[in-house]
Amino acid sequence: MLTFRVLGALEAWDGDRRADLRGPRHRAVLARLVLARGHVVPVDRLIEDLWHGESPHRALGSVQTFVSHLRRALEPDRAPRTPSTVLVTAPPGYAFRVGTDEVDAWRFEALVHRAGGLLAAGAAQDALRELTAALDLWRGPAYAQFADEPWARPEAARLEELRLVAVERRAEAGLAIGQASGIVPGLEAHAAAHPLREESWRLLALALYRCARQGDALAVLRRVRAALREELGVEPGSRLQRLEADILAHSAELDAPEAVPTPAAAPGAPAARREVAEPVRVSDELEEDVPVARTSTLIGRAVETADLLNAAKRADGRLAVALVSGDPGEGKTALTEHVRELLAAEGWRAAWGRCPESGGAPAGWPWTQMLRTLAAVSPPDEDTARVLAPLLADSYSPVGDQAAAKLMLHQAVVGYLARATAETPWLLVLDDVHRADEETLALLCHLATDRDATGRVLLVVTYRHNEVGDLLADALARLARCGPERVELTGLAPEAVGDLVRGAVSAAIDEDTVRAIVDRTAGNPFYVLETARVLAAEGAHAAVSEVPVGVRDVIRRHVAGLPKAAQEVLKQACVLGRDIDVDVLLAQSGTDEDTVLDAVESALLTGLLVEPDAGQLRFTHALVRDTLYEDLSQLRRARMHARTAEAIEAVRPRDVSALAHHYLASASRATAAKAAHYARLAASDAEIHFAYREAAELWRGALAAFDRSGATDEAARAELQAGVTRSLAQSGDHGHD
Ligand SMILES: Nc1ncnc2c1ncn2[C@@H]1O[C@H](COP(=O)(O)OP(=O)(O)O)[C@@H](O)[C@H]1O
Ligand SMILES: [Mg+2]
Repeated sequence: MLTFRVLGALEAWDGDRRADLRGPRHRAVLARLVLARGHVVPVDRLIEDLWHGESPHRALGSVQTFVSHLRRALEPDRAPRTPSTVLVTAPPGYAFRVGTDEVDAWRFEALVHRAGGLLAAGAAQDALRELTAALDLWRGPAYAQFADEPWARPEAARLEELRLVAVERRAEAGLAIGQASGIVPGLEAHAAAHPLREESWRLLALALYRCARQGDALAVLRRVRAALREELGVEPGSRLQRLEADILAHSAELDAPEAVPTPAAAPGAPAARREVAEPVRVSDELEEDVPVARTSTLIGRAVETADLLNAAKRADGRLAVALVSGDPGEGKTALTEHVRELLAAEGWRAAWGRCPESGGAPAGWPWTQMLRTLAAVSPPDEDTARVLAPLLADSYSPVGDQAAAKLMLHQAVVGYLARATAETPWLLVLDDVHRADEETLALLCHLATDRDATGRVLLVVTYRHNEVGDLLADALARLARCGPERVELTGLAPEAVGDLVRGAVSAAIDEDTVRAIVDRTAGNPFYVLETARVLAAEGAHAAVSEVPVGVRDVIRRHVAGLPKAAQEVLKQACVLGRDIDVDVLLAQSGTDEDTVLDAVESALLTGLLVEPDAGQLRFTHALVRDTLYEDLSQLRRARMHARTAEAIEAVRPRDVSALAHHYLASASRATAAKAAHYARLAASDAEIHFAYREAAELWRGALAAFDRSGATDEAARAELQAGVTRSLAQSGDHGHD
């Protein structure tokens, strides 16, 4: 078992083997985390405490290196890619997570706390045993090596105070079981070392009195009176004065109790010991100034929230539509997520469909996501499942007339929704429809116009108002007919920006800076957060005036603050899209696994990536991914797509949509044959999913790749050509090509 000692110099033990904690900085990182008692210490706080204003750019890399050395020292047998359970990465920082018994200071506190209860209950013998065990844990001043560090001082002082209390309580327990003579020598030393602690003098005088040394007892009381007058100019407190009077009067109250074991000391003792092992509640005051997450609650947006909740009320018995629009980063997703939480408290369920950032997802994918969530709660009957197969099933083969099948599918979705939502109200979210494919929008319009047939459903549709293409404009015109609730997001108010900044970074940010951030960002929450993080990461050196104008430049600055290797990995990751499969990322990057995982960790810690599920990563925002991607040169992009395609072929060979996307984007002769192959498969797939525009695009891509590959098979070429013509005809878009 791993145990940690901080009551004295910092040590870690694996059973009876002492772990090699390397250098002083390693120890400082560990001590700082232990001191937070399981709370998250944000990296910027860690850097501020341990690197004392040194270049924070380099510090992030150093912190990571120290943490990974410590992890190796503490858990040498941990398998690669299994997360550490002791030094946990918990964005925006790290947390130290072990049981109460494994840290001497935590055990000490638990024992003292328990002894207090035992003393109060009259079980002095048990209390004495607990207190002796507690005090035996001390080997020197708490956090000894770090005594001069401002971050360690308050905690060390708190523990020291608790130790003094423990010494006094132990004396009290000793007195209570008639061991006055045994405690006198220890108390004398204690009182002399802490001459202003009246309780220690009181106990000492009482012990002396009970040893039939009244003269010494009175002398002690005189000494303390003199000391208090001299040092503080005050008289002894009432307890001391009463003791003095009682001694002079030989009061019977001062007599020792019978020296017998207390009832709880006998057979109950082992059980009492076990209870000690129970975790104590860690004190919350200690780290309360450290935010555990960057931001979890919505700031401002009260009116918008109320509008959406009202729309939900109107959804009684028929589907209501709400359109949430705004710039990227304005908080469309965050607002919707907030409303989801509020509705969940009223028994609503939610299904979420996100339109993917880059190509490579099957047509109608957002509806697939939503229907899968719904189906997990209310599974469709067999007939419905058959009709829903194009959206719901992993693979399916079409039969009969396509146009009729598409209409049937849309009607089946309406019918299924009506049944699935009859009992429970549902919030359906179509996020980022400015990127939606044709099929996604077609189904959206069908549902919105056929809405009388549904149960209690609020359908929230979000989009960037300045990126509305023709398809979406048509869809919005049709949606307008059903009187949707419209929520148009603009920047947050200045006070809200201040709250957002203060909640996001642990470094102090002054009012001038907040004002500058308000001006610079017009209150766009994503822009605000990025700017605040960049300023915090650059520490004292950063001036707002030097922070680049424009959200993309701020993102670049943020990325530039990461270690070089991490920047490289992020560039590779952005080619995968906003969602990143860690297996694919590892397969495509030429570097070793540790480098990639360290890179991922820096991005998680600084809030560029989030980890929605184990093995899954996501860029915090599409803007981050897009900025990285747009900054790659054409040539580099193409090469990276080729590498990605190969990695996906190895890891997820059946993902033809993604394979077609990456091979087509790699646009080289060497990969042209594969591009043609996968584009052909993906095109057929899109056709059977009624996504004719996407299909036409893919057939065209396949044809171009086929020609580039230098293949000469005329029949194969004719098939691709026929695909283009057919899907164009079906999409009603008769070739502006
Ligand atoms: N009102 C708010 N209060 C706190 N944080 C917010 C608020 N609005 C947005 N954010 C944060 O700003 C970032 C961008 O918001 P997001 O909802 O993703 O924007 P959008 O979906 O409009 O692009 C997210 O990190 C989000 O948590
Ligand atoms: Mg969003």
